[in-house]
Amino acid sequence: MPDPVIDDASALVEASRAGAKTKPTVHCFFDEPTFTASYVVHDPETKKAAIVDSVLDFDAPSGRTSHASADKIIAYVQEQGLEIEYLLETHAHADHLSAAPYLQAELGGQIAIGREILTVQETFGTLFNAGPDFATDGSQFDRLFADGDRFRIGTLDCVVLHVPGHTPADLAYVIGDAAFVGDTLFMPDYGTARADFPGGDAHILYRSIRRLLSLPAETRVFLCHDYKAPGRDTFAWETTIGEEHAANIHVHKGVGEDEFVAMRTARDATLAMPTLILPAIQVNMRGGHLPDPEDNGTRYLKLPLNAV
Ligand SMILES: [Fe+2]
Repeated sequence: MPDPVIDDASALVEASRAGAKTKPTVHCFFDEPTFTASYVVHDPETKKAAIVDSVLDFDAPSGRTSHASADKIIAYVQEQGLEIEYLLETHAHADHLSAAPYLQAELGGQIAIGREILTVQETFGTLFNAGPDFATDGSQFDRLFADGDRFRIGTLDCVVLHVPGHTPADLAYVIGDAAFVGDTLFMPDYGTARADFPGGDAHILYRSIRRLLSLPAETRVFLCHDYKAPGRDTFAWETTIGEEHAANIHVHKGVGEDEFVAMRTARDATLAMPTLILPAIQVNMRGGHLPDPEDNGTRYLKLPLNAV
């Protein structure tokens, strides 16, 4: 896994500059069953837009998928007259299924994720014994981004930062003055993401977070999840780099790598696997596509026993 500290240093400089010029409009859709924040981010000048980390509704007991959450995003996009250019995934999520292919069919746009998804596909393709029909070359996605890659959404400057640690493939998307940081940081009163999934690493997560915290203090930070913190009764998903630096309970200014890793490792040892990890990974490693139907026309997900 490339060390994020020695990834393209100019990426951070570019990401820091992006915010000075452009300020996107950001609208959050919070999915309470999975505690996931999805976003529509758009350029007010051109109405070009991206959707970040969408959710496909999944009822595990019945194995039924549905689209109520994605349909709310579609209604908003149509109401605002937006043109979707990208469906951005910060990583292969373990706690919800992605609705990116459904949204793409309805709204267009390119589905993008980090190029380290190949590592994730390799790991989980093996775990699920997905067989030769499952490509582990990222071809289920339209774009594979690397650290420092730049793209535009209308007049918005967008810079990709590779921020592994939670998984090998995590990206943060800096779009104008807004950073979509996926599962790295959570709200200052809640802390940081776990680092104990396959390919996760608390040391690397710490370095990725330090890198994010060197963005300008006024950068708006949009999180992928919130679980409320003790003493807080409402969900929250937006903060700033300055607030994270000053007050994040796990990684505020002054917390060293060893101290963080000791805390993170101890805490991760107490966490149960996310309820939807097995369904979510099997779908998200396929770019949000369900597995192909078997010869009776039905699609199946697998449950590997005593393997995770
Ligand atoms: Fe995650």
